[in-house]
Amino acid sequence: MIDESRMPVHVAIIMDGNGRWAKKHGVPRVAGHNAGMEAMKEIVRCSSDLGIKYLTVYAFSTENWKRSQEEVSGIFKLLVKFVKLDLDELDEKNVRVKVFGDYSVIPDAAKKSLDKTLEQTKDNTGLQFNIALNYGGRDEITRAVNHIIEDMKAGKIEGEVTDELISRYLYSGDENGNVPDPDLIIRTSGEERLSNFLLWQGAYSELEFTDLLWPDFTPEAYKALIEDFQHRDRRFGGRKDEPAK
Ligand code: FPP
Repeated sequence: MIDESRMPVHVAIIMDGNGRWAKKHGVPRVAGHNAGMEAMKEIVRCSSDLGIKYLTVYAFSTENWKRSQEEVSGIFKLLVKFVKLDLDELDEKNVRVKVFGDYSVIPDAAKKSLDKTLEQTKDNTGLQFNIALNYGGRDEITRAVNHIIEDMKAGKIEGEVTDELISRYLYSGDENGNVPDPDLIIRTSGEERLSNFLLWQGAYSELEFTDLLWPDFTPEAYKALIEDFQHRDRRFGGRKDEPAK
């Protein structure tokens, strides 16, 4: 049973295995992403029902542009479809959608749909659903450093560069308070690596892996991983027998 008093505040997910799922079922890769989107919707609903505050999904990395034109445009068409069909439900569930990544370069229709979503849900106070799009952890840190240098030169900020300052300049940074670091990062499909996802924010995250391919990942499987997470002993570099100072 999930212990509701020990819920992770922020869960991040590397939704991996759509391509292998498509191959297994003898369908085109884009059909795998479509099935992946259905799984994603279920997990958003479930996260909201469980009272999780932040959910971040890795939808498209800075490296995914290397895929075929057909696959890339298929993924962005799915994004448009997702917004069209599900925006009102997200809004009703009080979900606030955000993007992590520079999405100014994605196809126009997808960009417009996203802008509409961000605008329509911006005042919602329930689950914050972060879609990592054209996202890469190294790219995010590099941008933050360049932005800090720019703001220092312009006299907008001064003094030493600190851990907190860098955090504020990341996509998870926010003038109203940063998104807390993920407590739990999940990766599906049996691969066990971070692949440039939330490199800075994931410093102390617990990692959970499952062999399930992303389209086969269900709310039940999700809850089982959360339960497992709740049994982890998190020390953040300290010692369990020594109270934090
Ligand atoms: C990884 O599987 C998945 C992706 C690169 C895309 C994720 C996209 C979705 C879940 C649906 C679209 C949703 C939005 C919001 C755009 P893979 O293709 O790397 O799988 P493989 O490793 O088996 O080939």
